[in-house]
Amino acid sequence: MEQIQFNIKERKTKVILPETLGFGKFFTDHMFEMDYNQTDGWHNPVIRSVEDLPVHPASMFIHYGQAVFEGLKAFRQDSGDIVIFRPDKHFERLNNSSRRICIPEIDIDFVIDALKELINIEKDWIPTKHGESLYIRPFIFGADAFLGVKPAKEYKLILLLSPVGAYYPEGFKPVKILVTDEYVRAVRKGLGDCKTPANYAASLLAGQEAVKKGFTQVLWLDGVEQKYIEEVGTMNIFINLKNEIVTPKLNGSILPGVTRRSVIEILKDWNMKIVERDITIDEVVNAYDKGNLIGVFGTGTAAIISSVGWLTYKNKQMIFNNGKPGELDLKLFNELTSLHYGMKNDTHNWLTLVEQKEVVVS
Ligand code: COI
Repeated sequence: MEQIQFNIKERKTKVILPETLGFGKFFTDHMFEMDYNQTDGWHNPVIRSVEDLPVHPASMFIHYGQAVFEGLKAFRQDSGDIVIFRPDKHFERLNNSSRRICIPEIDIDFVIDALKELINIEKDWIPTKHGESLYIRPFIFGADAFLGVKPAKEYKLILLLSPVGAYYPEGFKPVKILVTDEYVRAVRKGLGDCKTPANYAASLLAGQEAVKKGFTQVLWLDGVEQKYIEEVGTMNIFINLKNEIVTPKLNGSILPGVTRRSVIEILKDWNMKIVERDITIDEVVNAYDKGNLIGVFGTGTAAIISSVGWLTYKNKQMIFNNGKPGELDLKLFNELTSLHYGMKNDTHNWLTLVEQKEVVVS
């Protein structure tokens, strides 16, 4: 692979982060970019200013949605160290998503090294407050101008950085969820287990209608029978029952979340019974009626852990912990964030250190 080109512009003023960052609203000065064509493969790696992209109106991703993305985070620890949470797992998933929609895979080690270089250059943008972080958005799209339906011949990979705070404006307050049996997000053997824009487009109307009815988001049932629980909003879901914690098993239509996987490993460390299996919405309602349902929570990179305070299915309303965050949800959130900010030892080796060095400006 070629050497990365550095096209860095000197910043004349200090980076001042806004008091409230929210999610995905602010971007750092530079990004990493790399191109693909059939002759050179992935080539032309460069770190350069964030600018609008020259996109031809016939660019294939616009018309046929051939694009994949990831979301991962870097944290500034209390010691000053900068770490990235499980980048290997995120880029492996990016390659898995790419394979499903005929996008050429990337060299994971090379891209993680490029990401470290980029984060080092943009280190002043990393928030220091607990609860805030640097969100990393890698994405690849089919770039050539052609209107026939087939895989693109040219692609662009970009790593974009965004300092973020809480994903939901509610912060860690529990969310209100509507179980939708009117829309489905994904079907098995489709794209559900890939991080591709199509799944998010498919989710928008249900989310919008739920918000109009006073909910935060929807809970997705399976695409065939609308019977089995799949995901909550853009997150994986965990059902905390009296004698076991259940998360739907990965069946092809559920995104294999990196936070999902980490939570399963933590629960195992704590000797808790965590089971990956199919679970119907009827089982959840029955458990609630029998007093066997302790709570429900979502896991994802953006919000980390999100407690469900209220769950509505048809005419049935379920409320957990009087609408307060569940005990286990809080414990998991604290465990993960303690690890992110360096208050806990990284016994699983989930953190990748970004070496901090002088930035050479061209
Ligand atoms: C997550 O990290 O939980 C998500 O998938 C949300 C992201 C697409 C903004």
